[in-house]
Amino acid sequence: MNKGSFYIETYGCQMNVSDSEVVVSILVSNGYKKVSDIEQSDIILLNTCSIRDKAEQTLLNRLDMVKHIKKRGSVIGILGCMAERLKDKLLEIDCINFVVGPDGYKSLPDIINKAFEGNKSVDVKLSTDEAYNDVIPQYGSGVSAFISITRGCNNVCSYCVVPFTRGRERSKSVKAILREVDCVIERGFKEITLLGQNVNSYRFDDGTTSCNFAQLLDIIANRVPDIRIRFLSSHPKDINEELLNTIKNHKNICKNIQLPFQSGSNHILKLMNRPYTNEMYKEKINMIWDILGKDCSLVTDIMTGFCDETEEDHQDTLRLMEYVKFDYAFTFAYSERSGTCSANTMCDNVPHDVKIRRLTEIINLQQTHSLYRYSQCVGKIVDVLVEGPSKRSELEWQGRADDNKVVVFNNSEKLIHEGDYVKINVNDNTSATLMGEFINTTE
Ligand code: 5AD
Ligand code: SF4
Repeated sequence: MNKGSFYIETYGCQMNVSDSEVVVSILVSNGYKKVSDIEQSDIILLNTCSIRDKAEQTLLNRLDMVKHIKKRGSVIGILGCMAERLKDKLLEIDCINFVVGPDGYKSLPDIINKAFEGNKSVDVKLSTDEAYNDVIPQYGSGVSAFISITRGCNNVCSYCVVPFTRGRERSKSVKAILREVDCVIERGFKEITLLGQNVNSYRFDDGTTSCNFAQLLDIIANRVPDIRIRFLSSHPKDINEELLNTIKNHKNICKNIQLPFQSGSNHILKLMNRPYTNEMYKEKINMIWDILGKDCSLVTDIMTGFCDETEEDHQDTLRLMEYVKFDYAFTFAYSERSGTCSANTMCDNVPHDVKIRRLTEIINLQQTHSLYRYSQCVGKIVDVLVEGPSKRSELEWQGRADDNKVVVFNNSEKLIHEGDYVKINVNDNTSATLMGEFINTTE
């Protein structure tokens, strides 16, 4: 039965991308048809992000456009973190017909029916147990699939909206995850990325089975030995020897760890309510280097301009960057979010121009570190999972190395296909790309 067509647009993190895949699955199994033309769709869904003010402003601007291009009679629904944060306030915006938070997606078919009957509705209940264990997401295209293994977050970083928008942490059952793994393989994907706000705090226990993140990785790596496994994001507090040894023991678990540090200053880390110090973070990095070697690629998140951050605190951040020399960093200026602990109890007192200047210094330093890390790969042979033609040319193709670096290589003879694993001899680099030659092992 065809109940109409829907179009979905996704903002924010990979978790949101994965959630949109859950939404698509729920709607398709309820008789709706997914379309890629917004102007022709009966239902327009925007899956939103609240992490910084800018994310919300971007969405509101987009909404202004959408309401002009949508066809007559179609309905607009706001999903995700912004839906959860702003709740029925969003319904005051004329063109919005319904608002559904991250734990309410199973109610979408009902809510959409009501919207077509002319009733606005909101479902922003947060759940302590909804993990969508019984939904097989409609995975996207490409060679890599996301499997979210935890939802929500139990950390209370003072700046962060996520505990308010996604609720308490829950882990998917091992059985549900393995069902997804099998499904992903059956559909021809070559890489799995396990997702969670704090992926390495995964813990499932139903009284008969108990499993932590290292054990889960071990089970999956053994089940699909020819498939690459990645995971993000990790919390420094949950990096331990058991996890690192598991990564070391499996060729198909990528040596690539995303480990946000946010600030190098102990004073700021305390205000942020991050449960580690600069020294403890460095110990975790040393543990990674000891067990996985210096080749393990490291990615981080850095936030500058948090409440009371001094020039000396900023220097601590630059020094920590210098110590690790990350392969890549996601960098942000602090954006106050109402309702969070820092908004309620602290003062957003670093002037905007100082935030921007510090951010620029961080970005510039990171650029030199990325260039250094990428240049270290020149002269090496790397295993690449091929994604397809590069952005610049049909003759040049690209893929990713085990450590997630983008690798570009000549494929003018079309010997290489999407989803192939190939060996590339790296001969040049920029701070964001490796260039190399395909080594034809069959010759
Ligand atoms: N302001 C700026 N950046 C933030 N992040 C989280 N909350 C905020 C905020 N209020 C950053 C952190 C986090 C990443 C996903 O976004 O660095 O790790
Ligand atoms: Fe993802 Fe956080 Fe944005 Fe929600 S607020 S979409 S969890 S980045």
